[in-house]
Amino acid sequence: MSGERRPAAVTCTAPINIAVIKYWGKRNEELILPINSSLSVTLHQDQLKTTTSAAASRDFKEDRIWLNGREENINQPRLQSCLREIRRLARKRRSGSEEESTPCILSYRVHICSENNFPTAAGLASSAAGYACLVYTLATLYGVETELSEIARQGSGSACRSIYGGFVQWLMGERDDGKDSLAQQIAPESHWPELQVLVLVVSAERKPVGSTAGMQTSVETSPLLKHRAEAVVPDRVKEMCEAIRQRDFERFGQLTMKDSNQFHATCLDTFPPIFYLNDISRCIIHVVHLFNTYYGQTKVAYTFDAGPNAVIFCLEQTVDEFVSALRCCFPPESNGDMFLKGLPAGPAVLSKELKMAMDMEPRPGGIQYIIITKPGPGPQLVEDPSLHLLGKDGLPK
Ligand code: DP6
Repeated sequence: MSGERRPAAVTCTAPINIAVIKYWGKRNEELILPINSSLSVTLHQDQLKTTTSAAASRDFKEDRIWLNGREENINQPRLQSCLREIRRLARKRRSGSEEESTPCILSYRVHICSENNFPTAAGLASSAAGYACLVYTLATLYGVETELSEIARQGSGSACRSIYGGFVQWLMGERDDGKDSLAQQIAPESHWPELQVLVLVVSAERKPVGSTAGMQTSVETSPLLKHRAEAVVPDRVKEMCEAIRQRDFERFGQLTMKDSNQFHATCLDTFPPIFYLNDISRCIIHVVHLFNTYYGQTKVAYTFDAGPNAVIFCLEQTVDEFVSALRCCFPPESNGDMFLKGLPAGPAVLSKELKMAMDMEPRPGGIQYIIITKPGPGPQLVEDPSLHLLGKDGLPK
């Protein structure tokens, strides 16, 4: 390919986020409008991220997409919504501007290539990072700067929150066209430097019921979900915002656990019921409560999405001791050295009293590994061209 015919290419990364007030249920399936507001913490991309490259060229015959090394169908409706909306905004931005006379990459087809640095099947929120990254990368390619959370929302609801770093609220909005259903940062990642996050990978299996189908059945059948959306979440979101602003871990942790439990209660209230937690998830819940009871305060808090993996929040000074407690309760099986990934955790000697308080039957191998991370920033542009996922020919490297 000659110099000037090289594709215009951009590479970006985007984070996953974990909801502390859960989104579950849509009032509009196509636009992905939720029945309640939600709130999340964006996790650091040093540990968990999606990378996406997008290139446009007059040589490309059609739009194409590769996800984690495999070509996928670009005609999937949610992908099409994101592509269409970004192109619509790019056209709007261009019309009337001087750029209009210059050759326009908008008339070219795009190639998109995306990879996660974590196993997709591990049940971590890959769709949130994936769609946030897709939208951010296409927006950068076409020079679009606004409405990104609204567009990412149309790929996957929780993706709208991954457009921002730190602590993020997704306002449910009221309008039928979804223009007011968007994410907002409530505090940057630097706001609470002591806060750390442990991702406990329990099972790398795919979830039995995906969130899209699961929440649809819940909306149709669960009276508890309706009550939750109308009477519980509005006050909880306000309280959670306050707990975060004040860096009040006691309140933050309690609300996080209660909201996770209520979300899983709505799954049980769905008919037929949906079970995302397994035996190990329930053991983790038990361990957290034993630990907190021993200290007489909320030192660690759990939350679970649509799968058995736990996400634990705690302050930095608690990490070493809680990880040691987890090692006791869930002795690592074969991969002792690979048990901890991400930020470092030092060894901690558990006191005899704490060991006694945590008295439970050990579950060897129950936790496969732990990723230690912290709140992090939103999507980033990758400047280094050697990190692009598409080669000069526009195909995956
Ligand atoms: C349990 O965003 O994956 O993780 O909008 O249908 O793509 P769709 O669903 P998705 O649902 C996430 C649900 C959750 C809670 C949350 O992240 O708020």
